[in-house]
Amino acid sequence: MGFERLAAEVWNSALGATRRSVQILGWGKALPERVLTNDDLSRMVDTSDGWIRERTGILERRIAGEGETTASLAIEAARRALERAGFDPVDLDLIIVATMTPEHLFPATACLVQDALGALRAAAFDLSAGCTGFIYGLALATQGIQAGAYDHALVIGAETLSRIVDWQDRRTCVLFGDGAGAALLGTSSASGGVLTTLLGADGSGAELLILPAGGSRHPATPETTANGMHYLQMDGRKVFRFATRIIPQATREALDRVGLPLEHLELLIPHQANQRIIEASAQRLGLPLDRIFTNLERYGNTSTASIPIALCEALEAGRVQAGDHLVLVGFGAGLTWGAAVIEWGQPWPAPPVARRTRLLLWLRYRWAPVRSLIRRLQRALGALLQRMSPL
Ligand code: ACO
Repeated sequence: MGFERLAAEVWNSALGATRRSVQILGWGKALPERVLTNDDLSRMVDTSDGWIRERTGILERRIAGEGETTASLAIEAARRALERAGFDPVDLDLIIVATMTPEHLFPATACLVQDALGALRAAAFDLSAGCTGFIYGLALATQGIQAGAYDHALVIGAETLSRIVDWQDRRTCVLFGDGAGAALLGTSSASGGVLTTLLGADGSGAELLILPAGGSRHPATPETTANGMHYLQMDGRKVFRFATRIIPQATREALDRVGLPLEHLELLIPHQANQRIIEASAQRLGLPLDRIFTNLERYGNTSTASIPIALCEALEAGRVQAGDHLVLVGFGAGLTWGAAVIEWGQPWPAPPVARRTRLLLWLRYRWAPVRSLIRRLQRALGALLQRMSPL
């Protein structure tokens, strides 16, 4: 083991000499105002505050209100992340939205975010990897920046799971909530940053967590609707067993890749699905609970949004200092899993963003919908002129 660590250290320092260091330069979250408590749920289905607390650790969750969607939450979280970094969206190269509840099957929610931000130079796409989506996005963005393909990428996890949950199914409706979290990635002169990412998948468990209809296998029909096939379905016990095995395994594997002993890990930020999953994983890992960040009691499982929201709150709570080592670890539908080891390279508390920059961003966001409207009008006018002109 000692030799493996030494080899990993030598390998990483050799790579570090050639690789660009990728840092999380900005972070932001967005949560709907409406709170749904366990007691509220006990008036909707046959459940109780006691059962939900004891089996999941969740006390309440946020539910998107009228007019709030996956895109609107993603845009709000993205703006906060950009503002935190004082970063002009025009300089973004890439936007990835990880989600299980996209605004539409297509176009990508990421394109709606790109339009609302006025990120004119950015490529944009959605990514589906269950609750692990944010880690998948972080890995792709990091590797793209390291390879020199991009300089700055925005990775967003955003969900409105309340729109695909069967509110009459007590086995699932008590677990999930809505929200979004975003991280701006880019290079900086600081050391550390994203040290490694690890991704995995096992499609043999695809049916354990599934939205059966609405895709090409079962297009929407009156029958699919009547049979509840547009609601999330889950085999909770099997997912639970998978989660408690994969969280320690992925965490250990990621730490081994960078030669970091568990004792040097300051904070683990796991996917916020269930307190019992987190405690069982901590026990298997041999990691004390005070080195694990949780906020699921307030938000439930927000799927792809859970890790970036937790990262924001860990920073806000002063749980991360410059130089700290963090592991973000997730699991989810697919089945998928993923982990990232980060050496926090940014000064924290972060210096305040200049008023001039905030004003520039404010103007940018006011201008973006106007620009979008002009583009639509141009297209309509172009079509009209084409119809009027003789062939
Ligand atoms: N209120 C009251 N009773 C309930 C409720 C509820 N909300 N839900 C289930 N029960 C009952 C069941 O009907 C069952 O009753 P029975 O014994 O009479 O049949 C009993 O409670 C026990 O049910 P279990 O399913 O065995 O309960 P368990 O302790 O396994 O907890 C849970 C269920 C919370 C779903 C757990 O299995 C779990 O957390 N699994 C992992 C889920 C998860 O993390 N999913 C997200 C994956 S990430 C992604 O990609 C979205």
